[in-house]
Amino acid sequence: MSARTHPAIALPTLIGHRGYSARAPENTLAAVREAHRAGIQWVEIDVQLLGDGTPVIWHDRDVSRCSNGTARLARLDWESAAQLDAGAWFGKKLEERFGDESGDRFNERFRGERMATLTEMLALLNALEMGVNLELKLNPGHDPMALARRVIPETLATLPAEQRVISSFSRPALDVAREMAPPAELALGALFKRLPRRWQRHCAELQAFSVHLDWRYITRQQLTALRLAGYEVVGYTANHPAAFAPLWQWGISSVISDDPVAFMASA
Ligand code: G3P
Ligand code: MG
Repeated sequence: MSARTHPAIALPTLIGHRGYSARAPENTLAAVREAHRAGIQWVEIDVQLLGDGTPVIWHDRDVSRCSNGTARLARLDWESAAQLDAGAWFGKKLEERFGDESGDRFNERFRGERMATLTEMLALLNALEMGVNLELKLNPGHDPMALARRVIPETLATLPAEQRVISSFSRPALDVAREMAPPAELALGALFKRLPRRWQRHCAELQAFSVHLDWRYITRQQLTALRLAGYEVVGYTANHPAAFAPLWQWGISSVISDDPVAFMASA
């Protein structure tokens, strides 16, 4: 493994989690536009398949938390998913947080925002010249191979190699992705909660570009070893810049945050 075998990705220090999810409904086109407006160059977003095979940008197994519907993704086709309002819930959340004074503005701001298809999201990222950490999200019962087979070719064909890293907790999904393209064309991120003991073998087999870890469990020793081995290291999902500060000193590459702007002074 050598960084030189991968595309010349200039991974930024700040990556917006599910877009700029502190300021806009997560994983929507609006959340990515919000990140861009704030000067954030890369976003992390989740991709899954609907029941009819349409790849969409969505985190949960169902739509109840982030829309006005309740169905599981596996039971939705695009025609039904496109009817959902995936923005109004966030306006209500902001209204609760910031009170009546700002209420009207927030309440209406994202109303009518739709679930985004992968195709729409890739087009927006291209237009804004943004980079993406696309997470192949496997909720229980979902098929990792079907997801990778559907998502990887379109992503490779649409976004330049310098503007994308594909990550997943699912090893089978990453294995399928790697079979589809060599490291020079496709940067893969090995995603873990905690770094496993066999990380060296896992990352070497994947020919990984980066390792993505829950920032709360990263140790200085791990970070040093990962960086010496040539991997970019990305910490998720951090929202407290002061608590995260030691990781910059230990050599972490990037932070994934719901509010990346809050990290601008410290990164
Ligand atoms: O990719 C980092 C992070 O997004 C993984 O966790 O649950 O927020 O997708 P989750
Ligand atoms: Mg994610």
